[in-house]
Amino acid sequence: MSKKKFEKSIELLNKAVADELLAIHQYMYFHFHCDDQGYDLLASLFKKTAIQEMGHVEVLSERILFLKGDVEMKILGEVKKIRDPKEMLKCAADMEDESAKEYNIWANECSANADSASKKIFEDLVLDEEAHFDQFDTEMGNMERFGENYFALQAIERSKVVSTTTKQN
Ligand SMILES: [Fe+2]
Ligand SMILES: [Fe+2]
Repeated sequence: MSKKKFEKSIELLNKAVADELLAIHQYMYFHFHCDDQGYDLLASLFKKTAIQEMGHVEVLSERILFLKGDVEMKILGEVKKIRDPKEMLKCAADMEDESAKEYNIWANECSANADSASKKIFEDLVLDEEAHFDQFDTEMGNMERFGENYFALQAIERSKVVSTTTKQN
């Protein structure tokens, strides 16, 4: 497989890796702070999503290596130090929206370069990022609808788990 022919795809795939790496770092930062503040539902949503983004890095990296490129492992930017849960969800939803938009464009670029396998990867990622967007958007909606009760319910859930879990050796 000639590297030259797929140079553009390798570049785009590496840009996506950088995007995914930032999402992983950002969501784990949100996970730690939600956990610390007792927002269990949000804490696990961010962790679960970060793990899915890791899966995306893997798929992208496998394709880069197959095309005889190398995985640069650059991170797109700095983690935003947001600690307010509503702001976290807004930030995460925007990131997903942005990724989906870019992956759509890059899918078309790969297609124009006769690289339909990379195109397919980007298309599959669009589906996942849209689903992530939807999850964050739904939580933002719940927060609006239930106000303070949204957080109270999460705190009660944690108390329930703590009070009913027996330590086993
Ligand atoms: Fe992703
Ligand atoms: Fe995502």
